[in-house]
Amino acid sequence: MSTILVTGAAGFIGSHAILALSEAGHSVVAIDDLSTGRRWAVPAEMTFIQGDVGDAAVMRKLFAEYTIDAIMHFAGSIEVGESVTHPLAYYRNNTIGSQVLIEAAMEAGIRRIVFSSSAAVYGEPQRQPIPEDAPTRPINPYGWTKLMTEQMLKDASAAYGFNYAALRYFNVSGADPQGRAGESLKKPSHLIKRAVQVAVGVLPELGIFGEDYPTPDGTCVRDYIHVSDLVEAHILALAHLEAGGGNLILNCGHGKGVSIREVVQAVERATGKPLPVRSAPRRPGDPPALIAAADRITQVLGWRPQYDLDAMVETALEWERRLLRAPDGVHP
Ligand code: UFG
Repeated sequence: MSTILVTGAAGFIGSHAILALSEAGHSVVAIDDLSTGRRWAVPAEMTFIQGDVGDAAVMRKLFAEYTIDAIMHFAGSIEVGESVTHPLAYYRNNTIGSQVLIEAAMEAGIRRIVFSSSAAVYGEPQRQPIPEDAPTRPINPYGWTKLMTEQMLKDASAAYGFNYAALRYFNVSGADPQGRAGESLKKPSHLIKRAVQVAVGVLPELGIFGEDYPTPDGTCVRDYIHVSDLVEAHILALAHLEAGGGNLILNCGHGKGVSIREVVQAVERATGKPLPVRSAPRRPGDPPALIAAADRITQVLGWRPQYDLDAMVETALEWERRLLRAPDGVHP
């Protein structure tokens, strides 16, 4: 089996990917700068380098030391709002970081890269569900950093002949069903994470950011995907590239819209208790709806999601309970 370099390995999605890659029989070389990731999220027996993918010296040394067959590139900053207030930090960390990584990878002769892209590349699309060939018009720096990295991969692939998959994530949530990994940011912004924090008493109540959107119940609609299903899409994309398949740009979502109110109801089903919520103003930059056209990923990779909304909420809730039992949010 091959050796996969996983960047952002101590973060939310990376920490799930390293477990799945190991289970699939791959060796993993994990790198994370631990700016938001947690060291304990990478198993002690796994090769781990603390470092920044945007540091060319670190990357050259890594590629000289390890024989890497493919890269899964998760490292990056992920807060849309923060990208608006700190755009240059986002361009440095996400776009320039990716440029340095890709250049070092080319020098090392790497032939396959799977990249974490985002539905944020679409901006505010005219049509739902959103097909992969919809216009890409990001409405925030975060979306631009992802789109620019897709463009670099496309141009570099044409010039140097490696293959890549850019996976455009919709709303990733849930946690490892075996309780080994989950979302552990100190100040999370994601809806399901915050809703389960309210459910366990870490937060007093859930603000619902806007109830006057042009959607069936007035709250924003999103396409939620379980992190384990998302990781499975990466494993399949890697297998596609390893089998000699061409470049891929694929949405990762269910193709099904879920409103904030429906998420609240799912949390209430999981706990059997009402969830304290309050109306709050709209959050700037939120599109009313983002729903993936999800047929291409099924056709190309044979991918089908295994976890529904209830499973996303239940696994996220279980992870939150674990964090609560652990002193200082350290993994129990
Ligand atoms: N929301 C609330 N209350 C909260 C948190 C969120 O009402 O406490 C709402 C948001 O306003 C939004 C919806 O829940 O309408 C989902 O918000 P998230 O922050 O969970 O997710 P986003 O849709 O804003 O962001 C996600 C990814 C980003 C990505 C973006 C666009 O997290 O990385 O989709 O693709 F850029």
